[in-house]
Amino acid sequence: MPQIHYQPDGRTIDIAAGQTILAASLDAGIPFAHSCGGNARCSTCRVLILDGVGNCSPRTPAEQTLVAHLHFDPAMRLACQTRIHAPVTLRRLVLDSEDAALASSSAKLDMHPGEEKRLAILFADIVGFTPFSARLLPYDAIHSLNRYFHHIGPVIAAHGGVINNYMGDGFMALFGLDDPADATLRATRAGLAMLRTVEILKPYFTALFHRSFDIRIGLHYGCVVIGSVGFLENQTTTVIGDAVNFASRIEAANKQTGTRFLLSKAARTQLAGRIPTRPHGPLKIPGKKGRHLLHEVLAD
Ligand code: FES
Repeated sequence: MPQIHYQPDGRTIDIAAGQTILAASLDAGIPFAHSCGGNARCSTCRVLILDGVGNCSPRTPAEQTLVAHLHFDPAMRLACQTRIHAPVTLRRLVLDSEDAALASSSAKLDMHPGEEKRLAILFADIVGFTPFSARLLPYDAIHSLNRYFHHIGPVIAAHGGVINNYMGDGFMALFGLDDPADATLRATRAGLAMLRTVEILKPYFTALFHRSFDIRIGLHYGCVVIGSVGFLENQTTTVIGDAVNFASRIEAANKQTGTRFLLSKAARTQLAGRIPTRPHGPLKIPGKKGRHLLHEVLAD
């Protein structure tokens, strides 16, 4: 008879053939949230299979329907829908009423519970915008930004990217969220298209505000954790991890090198020579140990 090992509880139980993890757990007196009564509608019975995911039954149609909009990673399963044919080690993810409330709202609000992904992360910033905007009327400062974003947003979208976060005059765009194919190549081409778009915008800024206009771009390819955070309807998808910080630092490193578009070694490897680059450094990057060779993207 297969067994379920619970972490961090340290308990082990036997599970009968055909029994779901939820039913076996409840029979054994293991407290298990199951707000919808085991009907694959609430996701509060969610578990993380730490070992033995291959010993689990395939997702039932009901589980597939629920997890399709919850972005569950393959190791996250609904205990009420999952049977096993060999031992598994798992961790219950809903342990108290607060966890249950969060899980239920995630099911209703299409929240992303958290998963690791390899993405191309692009940061862009307007050169010297803060001192420039301080001299503008509030309307002009915001209008300038919106005019810029109005042109840049479609460029990102046309290359399959998503602007995930605006930070004043800067933003972060992610490539590879849904389609990992050639994420870095698409991000690099988006960056080059952004620089061409800026050339079109320059006369507008020069004529209206008597100043030059330019941007700096940094691109890195690496592993991030992506998930939904926030309160109730104010949920937003966020990405965290060292790769995000590094991409931001690469954008800032353009100041050291006098360049407009730099990418990391990892991103350059992904390009596999399809876009020409020129090395800079190795450079000291604030917040990072050692020195790092960065690569300037040249027009393709
Ligand atoms: Fe509600 Fe499993 S108990 S989804």
